[in-house]
Amino acid sequence: MSLESAALRRVKPSPTIAVSAKARELAREGRDIIGLAAGEPDFDTPDNVKEAAIRAIQDGKTKYTDVDGIPELKAAIRAKFKRENGLDYGLDQINVSPGGKPVLYNAFVATLSPGDEVVIPTPYWVSYPDMVYLAGGEPVFAPTTAQDGFRLKPEALEAAITPRTKWLVLNSPSNPSGAAYTAQELRALADVLVRHPQVWVLTDDMYEHLLYDDFPFATIAQVAPELYDRTLTMNGVSKAYAMTGWRIGYAGGPAPLIKAMAKVMSQSTSNPCSISQWAAVEALSGPQGFIKARAKAFQARRDLVVSMLNQAPGLSCPRPEGAFYVYPSCAGLIGKTAPTGKVIQTDEDVASELLQAEGVAVVHGAAFGLSPFFRISYATSEHVLEDACGRIQRFCASLS
Ligand SMILES: Cc1ncc(COP(=O)(O)O)c(C=O)c1O
Repeated sequence: MSLESAALRRVKPSPTIAVSAKARELAREGRDIIGLAAGEPDFDTPDNVKEAAIRAIQDGKTKYTDVDGIPELKAAIRAKFKRENGLDYGLDQINVSPGGKPVLYNAFVATLSPGDEVVIPTPYWVSYPDMVYLAGGEPVFAPTTAQDGFRLKPEALEAAITPRTKWLVLNSPSNPSGAAYTAQELRALADVLVRHPQVWVLTDDMYEHLLYDDFPFATIAQVAPELYDRTLTMNGVSKAYAMTGWRIGYAGGPAPLIKAMAKVMSQSTSNPCSISQWAAVEALSGPQGFIKARAKAFQARRDLVVSMLNQAPGLSCPRPEGAFYVYPSCAGLIGKTAPTGKVIQTDEDVASELLQAEGVAVVHGAAFGLSPFFRISYATSEHVLEDACGRIQRFCASLS
């Protein structure tokens, strides 16, 4: 008998963690490795947020809290949704979970029955399909193309929907492509969804504040108010406030769904860390000015990486609207021979030969469901990015 459950056997170990582990192994062997695989800001958590956490400890805010979040944090989230997204959620319409990832997981566990389908556009963030498997559902992939800026077209959405579709997952700006949707593009998707009342929308807005060239952020519940009653608007403090380790994510949605998610939490994780919740109150209610300054730094890094990758023979790198990832095509490298003598057949070969030859760790596109591409995270200094992109150029030029 297998140790793993039937659901777990369908789950792949995280490919991004696997790449980082391989890179660390090579570094331990003394190789000079640049890791561009991790998805977290290199900036530190702001001091006012750290101080709020210290105060929470000193004030004894160290006990169990309400399962899905303290009222003070829910109030801060309510204000954030109003201020930044024009969305009105009551306190009974807000969920706080231990990270953005558990928000999604709790929503799937709360709502999916065997055979229920979740439409996931490709390329996708690696966790969506596996979370659906864990919750007993079936992912259905809806392809996008680089030509369409990796944005789901209404026709592709229509084609993916069946009577068993329970959710559509939207992620803008996207991990891994950095692509973001305009309000108009979301409206066109909403027009499809209006015809399919069984389909709910889970919008992952985690990278809301990492948008460049003044690209205006839009989220579907605001753009299409008629979908408000079947949309879960998810967000979190991990990326915008450089708080990945604190584990606070949140969402606004219909009260019955929020109640069902709290029921899942009540018998699994219980509340998110009390101290982190008080830190998140400060993050969402304190000064917000640094967010724009950091986004500016990310924009400069994006421009550097896009420009250098487009000078590498065989690569073609679109300029994404947001997040801190680029998703270049490596179609021009397929069929070429690496210095090791290996003929490159897949984007996985590109990533592994690049790591071997030049010590640059990237994640192959197959991990995100769209090949032949790879993902680079540019959440590191310009100096390191210049070095890494120089090595990638050298690698591409060395192929014959
Ligand atoms: C698109 C997307 N959603 C959600 C998350 C999860 O965020 P958290 O660290 O808060 O669980 C990530 C983290 O990488 C992400 O890239």
